[in-house]
Amino acid sequence: MILPTGNARLDAYLAHGYAEVRGMSSGFAASITGHLISRQAEMGIRGHVAEIGTFEGRFFIAMALGLHPGEHAIGVDVFTWPSEKVLDHLHANCRRFGLGPAEYTAIKGNTRGMTGADLLAPAGGGLIRFFHIDGEHDDANVTQDLDLAAPLMHEHGLICLDDMLHPGYPELTESVHRWLRAHPEWRVLAILDREDIVAAAKYVLCRVESVALYEKDLLAAFAAQVFPMGADCVGHFTMVLSPAPRLAIVD
Ligand SMILES: C[S@@+](CC[C@H](N)C(=O)[O-])C[C@H]1O[C@@H](n2cnc3c(N)ncnc32)[C@H](O)[C@@H]1O
Repeated sequence: MILPTGNARLDAYLAHGYAEVRGMSSGFAASITGHLISRQAEMGIRGHVAEIGTFEGRFFIAMALGLHPGEHAIGVDVFTWPSEKVLDHLHANCRRFGLGPAEYTAIKGNTRGMTGADLLAPAGGGLIRFFHIDGEHDDANVTQDLDLAAPLMHEHGLICLDDMLHPGYPELTESVHRWLRAHPEWRVLAILDREDIVAAAKYVLCRVESVALYEKDLLAAFAAQVFPMGADCVGHFTMVLSPAPRLAIVD
């Protein structure tokens, strides 16, 4: 499901390119992400975007099309799966959908052992305002990727995690909840429901003080997608946005 984001360049990509770029993230999650990135710009929140697990660029391009002058998109991937051609495909997709070489950097490497300085080097430093974590789906890696991302974030930055609540990775969510309990300054702002088993749910995290900046706006902008019951998530109420929200009929 593709929804308008308020960014014409991104809306054109979502409508006519997104599904053609090989990848696993849903159009629904990319639409909400695009809206959030535009909302940040409206509020004067400036910074780079980053992704661990860039693959061929489906979600990366959607994030990068929301950037403003002076901001950079940084993609990290080992770029070896399913073949060494994946990095060439990323560059071709970026070119095809209007992302110039000065606007982004692909770092070919493993996040294991990577420092924040390594990650920010292509942007010449600064902070990250939107970070998508979609690398190795195990406890050690997701914990390390969160530990890598969190200190690099703008005070009102958003961290988005892929494949939450996925039946194929039940323990990944448990790892993220454990990390959240150890980092109570971070909160799950929203759960973005799945489209299907390969376009799965995401969590969007922000710091506690930033919830009010995003919550009302998101509920209003995507009112038709709000699951009325919401969720209790790591001790707090969290909005749930779904492509098809509904309650069970009981009479
Ligand atoms: C599911 S794919 C990402 C899909 C993409 N984000 C999208 O939305 O279409 C996961 C990617 O993570 C990369 N990856 C896995 N472990 C990694 C690590 N430790 N460091 C960097 N990249 C990693 C894999 O090479 C793979 O391309």
